[in-house]
Amino acid sequence: MNKSSVYILGIESSCDDTAAAVSRDGIILSNVVNTQIVHAQYGGVVPELASRAHQQQIIPVVEAALRDAKISKSELNAIAFTRGPGLIGSLLVGTSFSKSLALALKIPLIEVNHMQAHVIANFAHRADQIITQPKFPFICLTVSGGHTQLVQVDGFLEMKILGQTIDDAAGEAFDKVAKMLGLPYPGGPMLDKLAAEGDPLSFKFPHPHAPELDFSFSGLKTAVLYFLQKEKAKNPTFLTDELSNICASVQHTIIAILIGKLKLAIDKTGIKEIALAGGVSANSGLRNKLASEGIKNSWNVHIPAMEYCTDNGGMIAVFAYHKYLQKDFCTQEITPLSRFPF
Ligand code: KG4
Ligand code: ZN
Repeated sequence: MNKSSVYILGIESSCDDTAAAVSRDGIILSNVVNTQIVHAQYGGVVPELASRAHQQQIIPVVEAALRDAKISKSELNAIAFTRGPGLIGSLLVGTSFSKSLALALKIPLIEVNHMQAHVIANFAHRADQIITQPKFPFICLTVSGGHTQLVQVDGFLEMKILGQTIDDAAGEAFDKVAKMLGLPYPGGPMLDKLAAEGDPLSFKFPHPHAPELDFSFSGLKTAVLYFLQKEKAKNPTFLTDELSNICASVQHTIIAILIGKLKLAIDKTGIKEIALAGGVSANSGLRNKLASEGIKNSWNVHIPAMEYCTDNGGMIAVFAYHKYLQKDFCTQEITPLSRFPF
């Protein structure tokens, strides 16, 4: 082992993924994710079941992360964990586990804000993965199942929220519409797949109003619900006949809302260095649109590799490395936060 290297174990348990990763000097060595499947039958995440599954999975997931990284726990320099935001019962599992492990190993403990880690996922890579890292300052559009944010990033530990959703998150809009269309949970990826076969201009949906750089998606969900009810009354097979066109049109609307606000943020700040983060950045329509708008408008666009877009321990370990360099550690008194503004 190189003595000057810093090994960090990053643990993520904010929602329905139990994840652990090891980084060496901010470079990913392993990234293990166990996505809980128990929720699919309920059409959404059931908090009680999520925390129970985290308890069952956290030890095997951490062991796998250490094994993949080919290191033993005695070589770790720090333990990092998601303190919030998220489901409190889920966060408690990762927090308690991390506190105990750090105490037993007598090494520092680092708390991580899940949303900031999503942003820093743009720097996550393995030694053999070549990425172009965003340069500071940049604007990050973070789109996940629980959050939609425009963040100005001035440094690894310097971020401010320019705007965010005032109701549903973009991922929630995908998932809720998918549920109306009878698609299995989480519906976002399936809606994306079906949208690829449809015409995005088949149906027109409204862009709900939100002030300045904030977002709103709940009105869109309601508009789709009423639209489906009306069309099904005229034609009972409308949904199956038009499924891919509906998916393409809804996806087109969500992307137009996201890109519209991003453009506004770019106009306001003059920053043309752009990054994407969060589970919805896996959406092929959004990735393509951002890439093409980037070329058209001379933006430098960065999109993390897929494994660092959805919830993962890698982003926790990479973000924590920068806190480690600042000796930004927390004590054993730390408790998780379901809401964790920054
Ligand atoms: O970041 P993430 O893994 O978890 C949260 O922190 O919320 O994001 C999960 C969200 C879900 O709403 C899921 O439907 C959405 O990301 N998602 C997608 C796609 N893949 C994941 N939404 C649209 N298209 C996709 N391909
Ligand atoms: Zn997330």
